[in-house]
Amino acid sequence: MSTIKDKVALITGASSGIGRSTAEAFAAKGAKVVVAARRKDELDSLVESIENMGGQASAIKTDVSNAKSVEQMVEHTMDVFGRLDYAVNNAGIEGNFGAITDLSEEDWDNVMNINLKGIFLSMKYEARAMIKLGNGGSIVNIGSVNSFLGFPTGSAYVTSKHGLIGLTSSVSAELAPQGIRVNLLCPGVTDTPMHRRLRGIVGDELYDQGLLPTVHLRRAGLPEEMAKSILFLCSDESSYITGSTLTVDGGLTLTM
Ligand SMILES: NC(=O)c1ccc[n+]([C@@H]2O[C@H](COP(=O)([O-])OP(=O)(O)OC[C@H]3O[C@@H](n4cnc5c(N)ncnc54)[C@H](OP(=O)(O)O)[C@@H]3O)[C@@H](O)[C@H]2O)c1
Repeated sequence: MSTIKDKVALITGASSGIGRSTAEAFAAKGAKVVVAARRKDELDSLVESIENMGGQASAIKTDVSNAKSVEQMVEHTMDVFGRLDYAVNNAGIEGNFGAITDLSEEDWDNVMNINLKGIFLSMKYEARAMIKLGNGGSIVNIGSVNSFLGFPTGSAYVTSKHGLIGLTSSVSAELAPQGIRVNLLCPGVTDTPMHRRLRGIVGDELYDQGLLPTVHLRRAGLPEEMAKSILFLCSDESSYITGSTLTVDGGLTLTM
């Protein structure tokens, strides 16, 4: 993956979990990274740790559901590092779960605004910058096994993640002529703060005896394992992959 060295990667949702590990993985390969999320203190500590390892990073407080904030995130990337080669649109929330008869309009909108509109807005400004630069690029959106699978009470989250398949394949077709590839990485159960919150809701017994046995590898994935696959989709190693989904779930999707 030598193509990554000295390139610029923008990662949303980098204050935690998969996004944080992805930022660290890009930095370890010699990329300059811009890390975005709402919790600036978490981003600042990530930047400090990347710089302590000899890398280059910059933080920008961002709310991906807000167009102005997303525009500023991309402007910041251009101001600080002068280019944009890779964008990882990872920011997402699980939101509140609820039966269709009870789910509030506010809960629905909150999940859609961050998980689906947030990726529309991110790609809009990232693509403008990449097209203007004329160097091509690679965008990786983060879906989920719930881009394919529903579950009771999960209609908002599941719908937002299903929508990313259509969004990703449409934008891939639009941007291919400019040399920009767009893919959707779909993680399975991954050991992050989001996952630990969900485990708390499901309960240890159902998690250990109901969910984990459906994973062929019988364990949760690590955020570092997601990061490796994201780097693959960004690098030239995946030069003929666009408009595609890559499921990284230890075998879960084929079992359920
Ligand atoms: N963990 C899993 O098992 C799993 C499985 C499938 C898919 N995924 C997907 O993977 C992605 C990362 O999840 P994770 O497990 O790493 O969760 P996480 O640890 O909760 O991290 C989520 C990240 O998204 C950021 N974020 C949330 N709302 C945002 C907003 N409005 N603007 C900017 N950033 C925002 C959070 O930062 P702030 O709070 O600081 O804004 C945080 O950095 C999500 O899209 C999730 O749906 C996770």
